Amino acid sequence: MQFETRCVHTGVDKDGTFNSATTPIYPSSTFRWDDLQTHRGFDYTRSGNPTRRALEENLTALEGGIDSRATCTGMSAITATMHLFQPGDQIIAGHDIYGGTYRLFDSLFRQMGIDFVFVRMSDPENVRKAMTPKTKCVWIETPSNPLLNIVDMAAICKIAKAGGAITIADNTFLSPYLQRPFEHGVDIVVHSTTKYLNGHSDVVGGCVVTNKKEHADRISYVVNALGLACSPFDAWLVLRGVKTLGPRMEAHQRGAMALAKFLDSHDRVSHVYYPGLPDHPQHDLAKRQQSGFGAMLSFELKGGRPAVEKLLKKLTLFQLAESLGGVESLIEYPDSMSHASMNEAARREAGITDSTLRVSVGIEHPDDLVADFGKALAE
Ligand SMILES: Cc1ncc(COP(=O)(O)O)c(C=O)c1O
Repeated sequence: MQFETRCVHTGVDKDGTFNSATTPIYPSSTFRWDDLQTHRGFDYTRSGNPTRRALEENLTALEGGIDSRATCTGMSAITATMHLFQPGDQIIAGHDIYGGTYRLFDSLFRQMGIDFVFVRMSDPENVRKAMTPKTKCVWIETPSNPLLNIVDMAAICKIAKAGGAITIADNTFLSPYLQRPFEHGVDIVVHSTTKYLNGHSDVVGGCVVTNKKEHADRISYVVNALGLACSPFDAWLVLRGVKTLGPRMEAHQRGAMALAKFLDSHDRVSHVYYPGLPDHPQHDLAKRQQSGFGAMLSFELKGGRPAVEKLLKKLTLFQLAESLGGVESLIEYPDSMSHASMNEAARREAGITDSTLRVSVGIEHPDDLVADFGKALAE
């Protein structure tokens, strides 16, 4: 089945009682046993739930894995994967990953004895140089947040494998419609389903998708033991959102390309970060590795924070809000919002300035989005 068909149909026929066309929500926390040996596949919702299972089957199929676990946030999905490692292990990550992931690694898991090294991952040589016998994982986020640097997954996976490390990719920014990390050699894929997979800014969730039995078993154990799984209602919302993933991503991308071109030509903008622009330093890699350029873009507005504050007041279609991937367009200021959990030195090292703005382009008509920016920048 083609991708869009899998979005609509996988994991959906769960109702033998009334033959409903969509997956019912099973809010029950517990399930009756027929006798001491037999139950119908579920006994307690922390461990497993039919609605959540339907979503997990769907997400597994979309990423091309063998199993997945749907979690209550993206951060809990990332937390689950960290439990594959032991004190003394080292993990290499990009220096410009999502701020919350950076915080989780640099403060909480570092305290527990895991060592993290942050490198400029757009050059795979930096990963090769950072590898040591203690390296057990390379953490990939591509495109990176917020500056849309692209990581060459095949090259990184080759280096990690040669050094005996696994690779985990956060595929939140593109969704499996535009990028499938398993096809490039990645071992585990995580998502914040809060973003494009749900797509409607009305749920927080995450998932871990695996393609090897040892990882699937361990992640399933960890998610149950730590109690990280998402609620049946949240699972149902994400399952509903996923059905329109393909058409939404197409609409998101149309708007993003139009806005990127407009901003790139505007004299009040000094730089646009969007892999779809031919002058993006990794435009060719993005073309090769992704099946589209996505709908996240960032740019540098001339005039620093005062100019930023003025612009934010004038935009009408772009809500000043964190998060991304919903149908409505959002704009945010990484320096004090999404990346505030990094210290200033780490933000500057990652290339985030006091003039950087990040946009999550929604599915509104591209002409309206461009006109809104045109007006706000002209005033
Ligand atoms: C790339 C990326 N990964 C993970 C997360 C964390 O997801 P959540 O907010 O659902 O916990 C985010 C949140 O913004 C993100 O942008």
